[in-house]
Amino acid sequence: MNPAASVERTLVLVKPDGVRRNLIGEIVSRIEAKGYSISALRMLDADRSMLETHYAEHVGKPFFEPLVEFMLSGPIVAMIVEGNRVIEGFRSLAGATDPTVAAPGTIRGDLARDQGTKVVQNLVHGSDSLESAKREIEIFFAGLTIERKS
Ligand code: RTP
Ligand code: MG
Repeated sequence: MNPAASVERTLVLVKPDGVRRNLIGEIVSRIEAKGYSISALRMLDADRSMLETHYAEHVGKPFFEPLVEFMLSGPIVAMIVEGNRVIEGFRSLAGATDPTVAAPGTIRGDLARDQGTKVVQNLVHGSDSLESAKREIEIFFAGLTIERKS
């Protein structure tokens, strides 16, 4: 733990399964209840080129094409979430990638399960490092300047 750590920003996505299941509010609520702030939020239909950039580290893996198809299957919600150590903190709130083993109490552990689909559908995405967060925020909020009066 580093008490001097500065405020971070992370990119959170509610994936198409979360939007279809009307879980946007539940997911936002867990983020806010934890004490993080949402500094930008939009709903959009992603396109293939955004997703290929976003998931660049997975290009060529067997689940890549099903993952892109899934992410194109409906609207998503993108958010910039802020707070001290929020990158690590949101991933802890989200739980393990595989919802079957994600711990109860987490978003994936409480609200998702294996649906027998080609790619695991697990409701949310959260950036995994400062570098990923910066890159991913630029994909979904290109050119956005966040200014606050207070
Ligand atoms: P995310 O990037 O979506 O927040 O999820 P993550 O870090 O927990 O997982 P990651 O390894 O980055 O994988 C991205 C998404 O690809 C799908 N996936 N399927 N073996 C598989 O079938 C497999 N591995 C990954 C999941 O939808 C995962 O969230
Ligand atoms: Mg990831």
